[in-house]
Amino acid sequence: MYNLYNMIFKRKSFRRFNNNLSLSVEELQEIEQQINKLIPLLQDVKIKYRIVKRQETTCKRGEYCLLVYSEQKENYLLNVGYILEQLDLWMASRSIGVCWYGMGKPDKLQYDGLDYVIMLAFGKGRPEEFRKDYTKAKRKDLEMIWSGEHIPDVTNVVRFAPSACNTQPWRVVCESGHIRIFRSTEVRSIIPKEKLPFYNSIDMGIFLCFMEIALRYTQYKFKRILYNEEMYDAEQLEIAQYTIH
Ligand SMILES: Cc1cc2nc3c(=O)[nH]c(=O)nc-3n(C[C@H](O)[C@H](O)[C@H](O)COP(=O)(O)O)c2cc1C
Repeated sequence: MYNLYNMIFKRKSFRRFNNNLSLSVEELQEIEQQINKLIPLLQDVKIKYRIVKRQETTCKRGEYCLLVYSEQKENYLLNVGYILEQLDLWMASRSIGVCWYGMGKPDKLQYDGLDYVIMLAFGKGRPEEFRKDYTKAKRKDLEMIWSGEHIPDVTNVVRFAPSACNTQPWRVVCESGHIRIFRSTEVRSIIPKEKLPFYNSIDMGIFLCFMEIALRYTQYKFKRILYNEEMYDAEQLEIAQYTIH
């Protein structure tokens, strides 16, 4: 997971897939092997994956879809975002294009007793189709999402994490070696308000994945505390805190 730092700059959401390219049997096997290596945020939440042809879902892009099923326990959406973002980044390293696809509907809503959560559409891409200049990706200004001390190679990098409809719900306060991570509830988007907590919780998991990859890259050691949903206060949804040294 931690060697994926450079893929933060290469990845992007693939929306146009070249129908003349397809993944080989070996590449699909490699993806399956990689899935087994993904590091969970929560050890005790069951999660399973199915790779199906895109046509078995409502998704209109990519060659395949990775369907994710999970137990619905505390913070399970954070867990899904954290785990699958590792795969998004790894796939970029293999020039496999990916798009998180919240809009899609799968063929089965349950699998092995677990509930469907979200899918990633993916398919073979060409290296030149990936992001060339990450600073041109549309993101909120740094001042909107990060206050307090800045950490070189972290502060200005984690903000490029992907999120549903680019809502970027993360807010960070960094003081005296403590990085406090919040989810904003003031997000404006075309996503219906009642669905925002679902999508934005997955987004927060993605952000934690970016944060840890960046901290490791800069050689920081850190301790993570995750907060339980019932500890959330209505205005400030504190999701996690890292203590770095
Ligand atoms: C949880 C989640 C759901 C998403 N759902 C969709 C989707 O249904 N359709 C789509 O085209 N893009 C979807 N995206 C991709 C985002 O729009 C994209 O990540 C964001 O605009 C930032 O662009 P980038 O990924 O190219 O950096 C989703 C992203 C996330 C994280």
